[in-house]
Amino acid sequence: MRCIRQLFFWALVISAGRLFSQNALQIPPVLSGGQIQLNLQTGSVQFFNGQPTATMGVNGNILGPSLILHKGDFVQMHVQNNLDDTTTIHWHGMHVSAENDGGPHTPIAPGTTWEPGFTILDKAATYWYHPHLHKHTDAHVSKGIAGMIIVRDDEEGALNLPRTYGMDEFPLVIQTKDFDADNQIVVHSNNDDVVMVNATLDPYLDVPAQVVRFHVLNGSSQRTFNLGLNDNQTFYQIASDGGLLSEPLPLTRLLLAPGERAELLIDFTGQEGQDHYLMSYASELQNGIYGASSAGMMPMMNLDGYNPNPLNGTDFNILQFHVVAPTANPVTAIPASLVQVTPIPESQANVTRTLTFSPASPGPNQLNGKFLINGQSMDLDVINYTVHLNDTEIWELRNMSAISHPFHIHDVQFYILDRNGVPPPASEQGRKDVVLVRPMETVRFITRFEDFADDAVPYMYHCHLLTHEDDGMMGQFVVKGPDAVHPDAASTPVTVFPNPSSGDFMVRTGGLDVRSSVVFDQLGRQVACTIHPVNGGLQVTIPRPGAYYLKLFSPAQTVIRKLIVQRPF
Ligand code: C2O
Ligand code: CU
Ligand code: CU
Repeated sequence: MRCIRQLFFWALVISAGRLFSQNALQIPPVLSGGQIQLNLQTGSVQFFNGQPTATMGVNGNILGPSLILHKGDFVQMHVQNNLDDTTTIHWHGMHVSAENDGGPHTPIAPGTTWEPGFTILDKAATYWYHPHLHKHTDAHVSKGIAGMIIVRDDEEGALNLPRTYGMDEFPLVIQTKDFDADNQIVVHSNNDDVVMVNATLDPYLDVPAQVVRFHVLNGSSQRTFNLGLNDNQTFYQIASDGGLLSEPLPLTRLLLAPGERAELLIDFTGQEGQDHYLMSYASELQNGIYGASSAGMMPMMNLDGYNPNPLNGTDFNILQFHVVAPTANPVTAIPASLVQVTPIPESQANVTRTLTFSPASPGPNQLNGKFLINGQSMDLDVINYTVHLNDTEIWELRNMSAISHPFHIHDVQFYILDRNGVPPPASEQGRKDVVLVRPMETVRFITRFEDFADDAVPYMYHCHLLTHEDDGMMGQFVVKGPDAVHPDAASTPVTVFPNPSSGDFMVRTGGLDVRSSVVFDQLGRQVACTIHPVNGGLQVTIPRPGAYYLKLFSPAQTVIRKLIVQRPF
């Protein structure tokens, strides 16, 4: 807690507005391409006068580069752990095999390198990477390991959107942290009273006088932001966690819970010379959300260390915008529409699961205890659910506790069906992988488990309040099923012969407009093989025996066929 600094800081804000913002927003560098090298390292940052702050970062002192990746590309990651601690790196929101997912079962020991490789199957949107070691996620994230992943695809590329990183497109990693009297980051703290964006304190950003795009991540351990511009100016949400929306959504507020992302457009056209602020209107947060005046739904429910904190239940500035001259080829209009969003109809679900969140010690002091899912705490040796490949499931999340939990599931994106029986607001009608479940609320989502069957390595689901996650508010599921057949496959004329073969397959694509194709092994790793277009289809040659999946991408659908190679040739 830094009460004295905060008092001084607020005095400045009140007396002299402009003085609030004093540091140019840092923009993380970009890494792109087929080989990505991420070095996890310790560092130090001079945040305050006096002692520097010990930090952790990726290829630098704090945070990590933004990865800009393209759907359909194969990416080989090299994650080198130069920390003194074991950790993991998880690709939050991305659809990768369990083995490549970077959950608690794939630890990276100090001095070693983890090398997952995978094809980007995700839609254009904003994802992120962060550590996920069981019980230590908060320590590694709070000290600074986190980075943004921006996925682009052809659909996104066809839209007239700003996409010049650092010019008219910016990442905003918004976090709050607690520092002790020696300027060191306090882990598992409920007194996060310092706001930073891209690890910059009191930041300002020069933005061109045109439409500017922001990839916004709430990378905080616990705090929810109620984003808005000063004077209630309108901004436009264009993407939720895992995809673009059907059209830009005009908003004056957007709730962003830990782990959630949104892409926003702000139109600064004709505003050169003006200043604006991105704020959190936390005074409007209902109690029972971390960030409101009371973290519990009843004001008498105390969370140790939570109050006093000048950020709780008070409106505060996050980032100042100085509007400067436009760039050479500015985007000057908000597009009328974006992409087609096709939620999964509820009627397609063949499994429903109910997950009940409850406090381990009920009663008014419950906020200081652990939280459970279906009465259980995380056990790395227990698989809580077995999901069958290609099943469509409804997950019903029932929060029987007094605080909101941002629930996150790995592997898939989902569509929220309803909150207490009512369809979600428009900002939540796109693809999501985190949903904030309020006290005594029931949220249902629907999702489909495609592609990555693995009997051994589970995926996680958990609360994204990192204190709750570390304290066991997490569970795990495996996806089972040897035969990966896309539900759409029956209606397509794709045939393979001979199958099994000794390595050579003729694939008849029967009019399917195949734009790209890829072969995976059973663990979801891309396999080196040759694929030649021939008359009426593809000739696929796989050099090693085994069971594989051929995945054909067309604009309308993705078709998967299992290929068996019987012996070397
Ligand atoms: Cu962002 Cu399981 O994590
Ligand atoms: Cu995740
Ligand atoms: Cu929680």
